[in-house]
Amino acid sequence: MIAIKTVGLRKVFKTGIAKKNEVLKGLDLEIEQGETFGYLGPNGAGKTTTLKLLLGLIYPTSGSAFILGESTRNVRVKNLIGFLPEQPYFYTYLTAWEFLDFYSQLFDILGKFRKKRIEELLSLVGLKGKCEKLQLRKFSKGMLQRLGIAQALINDPQVIFLDEPFSGLDPIGRKEIRDIIFKLKDSGKTIFFCSHILSDVELICDRVGILVDGQLRALGKIEDLVDTSLNSAEIAFYGLKEGSKQEIRNFCTQMVDHSDKTLAIFNDRESVDRAVKIITDGKGSLISLTPVRQTLEDIFLKEVITEKQIS
Ligand SMILES: Nc1ncnc2c1ncn2[C@@H]1O[C@H](COP(=O)(O)OP(=O)(O)OP(=O)(O)O)[C@@H](O)[C@H]1O
Ligand SMILES: [Mg+2]
Repeated sequence: MIAIKTVGLRKVFKTGIAKKNEVLKGLDLEIEQGETFGYLGPNGAGKTTTLKLLLGLIYPTSGSAFILGESTRNVRVKNLIGFLPEQPYFYTYLTAWEFLDFYSQLFDILGKFRKKRIEELLSLVGLKGKCEKLQLRKFSKGMLQRLGIAQALINDPQVIFLDEPFSGLDPIGRKEIRDIIFKLKDSGKTIFFCSHILSDVELICDRVGILVDGQLRALGKIEDLVDTSLNSAEIAFYGLKEGSKQEIRNFCTQMVDHSDKTLAIFNDRESVDRAVKIITDGKGSLISLTPVRQTLEDIFLKEVITEKQIS
């Protein structure tokens, strides 16, 4: 079943008298149930605007959006979705328990189920125990972010929207959030999230979409978008005479000397073979040959830079 669908979704904001800003320019997207989808794009690309449209917080200028087959204009959809905003607001005098209790009341979760649900969520996000009695003003950024995710799950939603869940977190905090997302993924939830942390996106997502200036520039599985062929490589060697090194310098893309070691980068397989031959023939020692895989960051930069050159 399709969890999230948009058809020609457009949003134009009025920015002054006779001034308009077309932020989303006809988005067509289909996300399957159980999929983890990473929505990427530079600042101001229109990612949060898309989320707000999907959540029914703002209305499209034209086009439509559906969650599990229901139009996002339908209030019933609110029960199917959970949302972690880009900058969540916390009532800092409340404890984690009180905060989740407050949100569960908004969903009319009955008293006897409420306690169980809050306990499950605190345990899922690793806040069970002494933290749950602590006022939120004493929480670290990572703890608040985990609580924000717990809040987004209070109604046991099928589709979860997370706007920048990794923002401002250290590597440990990011791993904790990744682990929570993995648990949600394992339980069959559909997860749609925006992020600038591309290394995390690569680890988590089934598919990604790259939005640039309100238009989807790339969409697909990371392995389909990224060129995984091993054409490009980095070779480290030492003990080669200057003449042979110069020969390699003529066709490598970059060469750097580190004390007695040299590092050279090549863009195609033929150059790699040629360099290895020169090193071995010249009685140099090969330390390593490392294939350089294209990353999601390369794809992202390519899409964003191409767009800037066009405009
Ligand atoms: N209510 C609004 N009125 C006018 N313009 C708006 C409004 N909301 C957003 N915009 C504009 O829409 C554009 C896209 O904003 P949006 O917040 O969707 O970007 P984003 O991709 O989420 O960026 P970031 O990565 O910085 O969070 C920006 O140019 C912003 O100024
Ligand atoms: Mg945003």
